[in-house]
Amino acid sequence: MAQAMRRLGILTGGGDCPGLNAVIRAVAHRCATRGVELLGYVNGWEGVLAGEWRRLDRQAVKGILPLGGTILGTSRTDPLVVPDGVERLRRSLAGDGVDGLVVVGGDGTLSAATELLREGFRLVGVPKTIDNDLSATDFTFGFDTAVGIATEAIDRLHTTAEAHNRVIVVEVMGHHTGWIAAYAGIAGGADVILVPEVPFDVDAVCERIRERERRGRSFSIVVIAEGARPREADGGPPERRARVKPGEISYWLANEIERCIHTETRTVVLGHIQRGGSPSAHDRVLATRFGVHAADLALAGDWGRMVALRGTKIVAVELPEAVKQIKLLDPAIWEIAKVFA
Ligand code: F6P
Repeated sequence: MAQAMRRLGILTGGGDCPGLNAVIRAVAHRCATRGVELLGYVNGWEGVLAGEWRRLDRQAVKGILPLGGTILGTSRTDPLVVPDGVERLRRSLAGDGVDGLVVVGGDGTLSAATELLREGFRLVGVPKTIDNDLSATDFTFGFDTAVGIATEAIDRLHTTAEAHNRVIVVEVMGHHTGWIAAYAGIAGGADVILVPEVPFDVDAVCERIRERERRGRSFSIVVIAEGARPREADGGPPERRARVKPGEISYWLANEIERCIHTETRTVVLGHIQRGGSPSAHDRVLATRFGVHAADLALAGDWGRMVALRGTKIVAVELPEAVKQIKLLDPAIWEIAKVFA
């Protein structure tokens, strides 16, 4: 199988994530070394459906390691809901002479890949999300960068909150899970951390801020994940909750806090700043390791697998395992967060 490989394809799907270009570069270098041509499909599955690709030789990936975003572009196109999508993909890949695909994506992109495996497509997965909520891997690249950005923001907000004796509610990404909120909250020394996994009590949040005031701390930083919900809201388990618009929960909470403790409150929604820009050194290394290992799986014809980080090692897991369920915040991390917040 390995000898027969002539052309490999790669795509990036779903929300972008710092480190995607590092993966692309790593796969391109590995392919170049092995004499395999790499085609980069543009805008995720959309590019495969349209047969739109760029040749990714060493020259094409020069200088992209520190770049955020993805040189290939991305989309949330799901080929399984496009009319005749599966057959169009089959025709397109066969027409391009592509022997298999490296699919870099999050839950949505990899779920489509899992379905396509059953249809006989030859695919290898690379997990991607700043939310770090994909099961089967301990960490995803992009997460460290997002935590770094959020932590720096929290540090900066501390000084202005203290100067004005204000409460600042900082909303971070994470519609299903509180990985970013917990890590950035711990790293930034937040006074309250709220995550989707643990419905919160507004009165308890207010009491925590009052208690700080009694200790002479007339400012507070509240870090909230976009998917966090008050106890009284009927949302069901975090993985099944409907998405809310960015800022919705944090503006609501800021109002509630102002109402109960009469302290001036401000809201900061970090939003896509957490996803933009250059990946951290940690994410560049993890993304590069994922890329090289994914290329090796594809070049060996070991289809249907996804690269994953387990402890300090990169391993290959069955692709369907990765999308079975989302990975909720580690309770041990939540216990640490609760010590300070
Ligand atoms: O899934 C990653 C993520 O960053 C979420 O935390 C966030 O809710 C979502 O993407 C927003 O992405 P977009 O605005 O691109 O739909």
